[in-house]
Amino acid sequence: MHHKKPPFIAGNWKMHMTIPEARALISAVVKASPGLSEAEIVLVPPFTALAEASRLLLDTPVQLGAQNLFYEDKGAFTGEVAGPMLADAGCRYVVIGHSERRQYFGETDALVNKKVFAAFRAGLKPIVCVGETLEEREAGRTISRIESQLRNGLAGITADRFAEVVLAYEPIWAIGTGKTAAASQAEEVHARIREKLAENYGKEAASYAIILYGGSVKPANSYALFREKNIDGFLVGGASLEAESFIQITKEAIKAYKEEQ
Ligand code: PGA
Repeated sequence: MHHKKPPFIAGNWKMHMTIPEARALISAVVKASPGLSEAEIVLVPPFTALAEASRLLLDTPVQLGAQNLFYEDKGAFTGEVAGPMLADAGCRYVVIGHSERRQYFGETDALVNKKVFAAFRAGLKPIVCVGETLEEREAGRTISRIESQLRNGLAGITADRFAEVVLAYEPIWAIGTGKTAAASQAEEVHARIREKLAENYGKEAASYAIILYGGSVKPANSYALFREKNIDGFLVGGASLEAESFIQITKEAIKAYKEEQ
C-alpha cells in the first residue's frame, strides 16, 4: 500500500541569484521554516552561492542541494565541479539530468548514470530528472521515453542504493512555460513511474520512493498536484525565486498532506 509522504519541496534557482540576493531569499525561507515543519525543504542555489547558503542554513531544517556535478571526483576538468566539492560546500542533494542540461549541454542517460554514481561516492543524494518533450507526448511516446530514461539513467543501481535517489518528473513542455501538466496528467505518469520502480526495485522501495513533479508549479496549483496519490513534492523553478511564492507552494502542499492524514 502506498501512503502519502510528507511534502518534499526543492527550489531550483537555476542561473539566478547573486550572493546578496541569495542571502535575502534564504533568510526569508529560514524565517518561515518553523511554520513549514511538515515539509522537507531543499534549496538549490547556483555553485557560487553554495558556501554562503550552507553557512546560513547551518542548524536550520532547510537542506542544501547543487544543480549539477561532474562524474569524476577530481582532476584536470576545467570549469567542472566534483561531488566531494559539493559535499564539502555543505550540499546533501544534487540535481542530475535536468532537462535544461540534457537540452543545452547534451547530457545523455549514460552521462546521467555516471553522475548518479559520482553523487553516491560523495555521499550526496541525487535528484534525477526525467521527462518527455511535447513532440514525444504528442506521438504517444511519453511513457516509453521515461522508462528508457529510468532504465539507462539508473542502470546498475541496486535497490539499497535506490533508496537514496529522489526522482523528478518534469515534462519539458511544462518547464518555464506557464503550462503546468494537469494534476491528473502528472499523476498518470507518476503512477507509471512507481509501477516501473516496483518492477525494478520491489514494491516496498517503490512505495518509499520520492517522486517530485516539476514544471510551472505555483501556489495556485500546488494543492491540487499534491492531492494526487503519487506526487510526493515538487521541483520548483521560477516560483522558487521569490520567498513568498515558494513558501506558499510549500504551505499548500502541507495543507493537502494534512487532509490525507
Ligand atoms: P519551472 O522550472 O518551475 O520554472 O517551470 C521547473 C524546473 O525546471 O525544475
